[in-house]
Amino acid sequence: MGICKFVSVILFLSLFCLPISICSLSSAELAEISTNFLNYAQKPELVKWMVDVRRRIHENPELGFEEFETSKLIREELDKMGIAYKYPIAVTGVIGCVGSGEPPFVALRADMDALPMQEMVEWDHKSKIPGKMHACGHDAHVAMLLGAAKILQDHRHKLKGTITLFFQPAEEGGGGSKRMIESGALQNIDAIFALHVTARTRAGSVSSRPGPILAGCGIFEAVISGKGGHAAIPQHTIDPILAASNIILSLQHLVSREADPLDSQVVTVAKFHGGGASNVIPDSVTIGGTFRALSKKSLVKLMHRIEEVIVAQAVVHRCNATVDFFADDSLYPVTYNNEVLHQHFINVAGDMLGTEKVEDMKTIMGSEDFSFFSELIPGYFFFLGMKNESLKKFETAHSPYFTINEDVLPYGAALHASLATRYLLEFEALSHLSKRNVRDEL
Ligand SMILES: *[C@@H]1O[C@H](CO)[C@@H](O)[C@H](O)[C@H]1NC(C)=O
Ligand SMILES: *[C@@H]1O[C@H](CO)[C@@H](O)[C@H](O)[C@H]1NC(C)=O
Ligand SMILES: [Zn+2]
Ligand SMILES: [Zn+2]
Repeated sequence: MGICKFVSVILFLSLFCLPISICSLSSAELAEISTNFLNYAQKPELVKWMVDVRRRIHENPELGFEEFETSKLIREELDKMGIAYKYPIAVTGVIGCVGSGEPPFVALRADMDALPMQEMVEWDHKSKIPGKMHACGHDAHVAMLLGAAKILQDHRHKLKGTITLFFQPAEEGGGGSKRMIESGALQNIDAIFALHVTARTRAGSVSSRPGPILAGCGIFEAVISGKGGHAAIPQHTIDPILAASNIILSLQHLVSREADPLDSQVVTVAKFHGGGASNVIPDSVTIGGTFRALSKKSLVKLMHRIEEVIVAQAVVHRCNATVDFFADDSLYPVTYNNEVLHQHFINVAGDMLGTEKVEDMKTIMGSEDFSFFSELIPGYFFFLGMKNESLKKFETAHSPYFTINEDVLPYGAALHASLATRYLLEFEALSHLSKRNVRDEL
């Protein structure tokens, strides 16, 4: 398969020092790209195809690094469009390539994986796999990125550079983005965009913010060991249930007493396994949870204190504890939105949807493995609203009753395509400049 011609020149391009407008097109001409792409995406045959793709993926949900059929479906659709791609990347990942094959390179990312949960929605395209469900909208993300691929391929003669389409495995805790990076996916990429559907905001609107948009995240699991025995004779036992209970209370003091109140952090114990009978004190208890923060420093500090508190509080109760953070490098970075790309997003989305449909949002303490990309190169993550008062209520992500408002697929496809196309136009001059500089130096 023809693979995009990645140039070997590495562009040391920091978006922070870009002059704002270096584009030869007028702002009206740029705005026209956004509105034209939305019209294109709303053509009935394109909408019908995206809906069909989304439903086919929804019926056959696959977990992280097992997205073989999803990946195959994507490659078949790319083949039909005549789009070259690289496969496999990180087991099931696919990177499609549209445009000139020359710099600048801009990436658009969609995640492909489902969740290990049973769908409770009764409809024609319900998950056919018991215990697996697309409850986070990644089926829609893939459909929208394929929609963008179609728009871009049909306008490829107008592209001033190359757009790479990242179909990423294992977003839900598997760190698929990290595996893609290790496979060289970000080589020479100047910027990357991604979107996520949300039931919080209205259909036809988008929301985002510059700077931190999602938290950094870690998970932990601890085993608290005591000595089991008869529940009526506690003096002959070492009770891990009481120890674990006090550990959980002590962990709640980390954020309330040790963190700066203006530096948002979360510690949640979400798992407690211990005991099986009401008259037996068990040998051990397992607890587990997550911690979140908006800076690496705060995240690492939380991690160290979680371990100290669990171990020391276990000792208070004559128990022993071991704490597992699932490898030192398992921390997810904070998802950070580049400021220059934020302005680009405001322009592109404002031109397409109207400025009143481009909303500022507060940082939320959820996390995304998109952060591994945006930690390394300028990245931008935004939310695509689904709420529509004329329709039934849409449940939040990870609910077994989660559904997608399929009306929003054209918005996602058109936004992806416009963000990338206009990025290439508006940042093209600078890329040539930087390429020449690199060559001069050599
Ligand atoms: C909301 O739903 C109604 C009824 O289906 C539809 O006519 C309207 O276009 C929808 N609005 C958006 C923004 O999708
Ligand atoms: C805790 O660990 C120490 C040292 O290994 C051991 O002597 C003790 O029996 C352990 N206590 C419990 C309750 O497991
Ligand atoms: Zn999710
Ligand atoms: Zn998700």
